[in-house]
Amino acid sequence: MISKKINKWLTHILALLNKKRTIEKIRKNSNGQAVKIAEVYEQLVSGSVSLEEQTVLQKINELRIALCASDEMMHFKKIWEPEDSDQYNKDASIAVKNMARTAAIPPKWGEFHFRLLRTVKPENCLELGTNLGISASYLCSALQLNQKGTLVTLEGIPNFAEVAERGLTRLGLSNMEIITGLFSDTLEGVLNKYKKFDYVFIDGHHQKKPTLDYFEVIKPYLAENAVVIFDDIYWSEGMQEAWQEVIKQENIQSAFDFYKLGIIIYNAKITKSAEQYRLAWSF
Ligand SMILES: C[S@@+](CC[C@H](N)C(=O)[O-])C[C@H]1O[C@@H](n2cnc3c(N)ncnc32)[C@H](O)[C@@H]1O
Repeated sequence: MISKKINKWLTHILALLNKKRTIEKIRKNSNGQAVKIAEVYEQLVSGSVSLEEQTVLQKINELRIALCASDEMMHFKKIWEPEDSDQYNKDASIAVKNMARTAAIPPKWGEFHFRLLRTVKPENCLELGTNLGISASYLCSALQLNQKGTLVTLEGIPNFAEVAERGLTRLGLSNMEIITGLFSDTLEGVLNKYKKFDYVFIDGHHQKKPTLDYFEVIKPYLAENAVVIFDDIYWSEGMQEAWQEVIKQENIQSAFDFYKLGIIIYNAKITKSAEQYRLAWSF
């Protein structure tokens, strides 16, 4: 365990030192979608952002601050099967502020999604794990600025989904559908309804088998060069193993390890192993 942690730090430092070389390699060897990921990374490192985008990001930040201060209580019931143990797999209550402070995507990663969507300009986006809708705020805001695209976001706990819906409405966003229910009950229906997704964010049920199973179910519905993002790939041994198994599979054009997010570009026509890159901009 300790040696795995040391290994992660060392590769992280190496990735920071090698970032210029890695970007050059991506530009030389990779397809358009991978180059866009490299561009988004460079934009984030340099901090350049248009005034219009800055205004939108500021509004999302205000929503985050409001949620992080809210004493509203959310109640939930045990809905998972015992083997699907999850931190919310019990009858309990939690204040919005405690949830917003612990479960929501951190600002820099939210901005990463925002900029990636501004660059990739997808039609149909799917998110597993709405929670309070903070990541969905970045996704839907980018789609709104793009003037195209929809987000379908899935959440197991109705009270969380309600808070998410209120927040997204407060931001003036309506380009999304929030579906409540266990992923195992809702995912197939959503895939059949939308048919193709070109951007997928898997951010719920962070265990090895469910993560791999959801990916298998989603795969036939991925558009060519779809971007699939796995959150928290270093969250547990199981998630690290899940990421390693994903990037070994066929049909992965490129794989990016960002030391939190793992991103793949999916291409059903590719049969060789994925180009793999590690990129980091801070700890
Ligand atoms: C880490 S949070 C998502 C955070 C959110 N994407 C954000 O960054 O703002 C994960 C969410 O997934 C939900 N979840 C986990 N397992 C689930 C399952 N099997 N079915 C439905 N929802 C699930 C949890 O209730 C939780 O709200």
